[in-house]
Amino acid sequence: MKTIYLIGFMGSGKSTIGQELSKKLSRSYIDTDNYIEKKHGKISRIFQKMGEEVFRTYETQAIKQTKSYEIISTGGGIIERKENLQEMNRNGIIIYLSTSFDEIYERLGHDENRPLWSNNLEEVKKLYDRRMPLYKIFSNYTVITDGKSIQENVQEIKKIISSIESAK
Ligand code: S3P
Repeated sequence: MKTIYLIGFMGSGKSTIGQELSKKLSRSYIDTDNYIEKKHGKISRIFQKMGEEVFRTYETQAIKQTKSYEIISTGGGIIERKENLQEMNRNGIIIYLSTSFDEIYERLGHDENRPLWSNNLEEVKKLYDRRMPLYKIFSNYTVITDGKSIQENVQEIKKIISSIESAK
């Protein structure tokens, strides 16, 4: 059974959907951000004290060290390193949770726990526009989450997984 990786921008629902999916399918689950926080402390502190590059290195280590899990939610910047994409591709199936910028903006508001989600709307929009094509290109499937409930998204992903697993 291949690992299912959930990728997408901050606020696209990767962690909530991943957890729910793991319950519904009774499969093991991990979130790379949680994994990093358990090992190295709070993400906002890592960014503040050591900078983004150190965080990215922890993220690459997390992707390599969590391979045995069946469902994995990743951080929004997982597509920033080719090495991460190669590792996920080798080990599993990548599902992109696609959410419009407007909906993400509505969901996150003034979230202070995400170092890259600043109050500068122009900057986060630029980050979103740069990353969006990368999520698309490097995923095997796309699920559009806009206007859908968590359960609806989970159902859609369950269908994708069963079609993959029933194919010979
Ligand atoms: C990041 C997204 C965050 C977290 C870190 C960096 C990013 O995860 O990994 O703050 O670069 O987009 P979420 O996507 O779960 O918010």
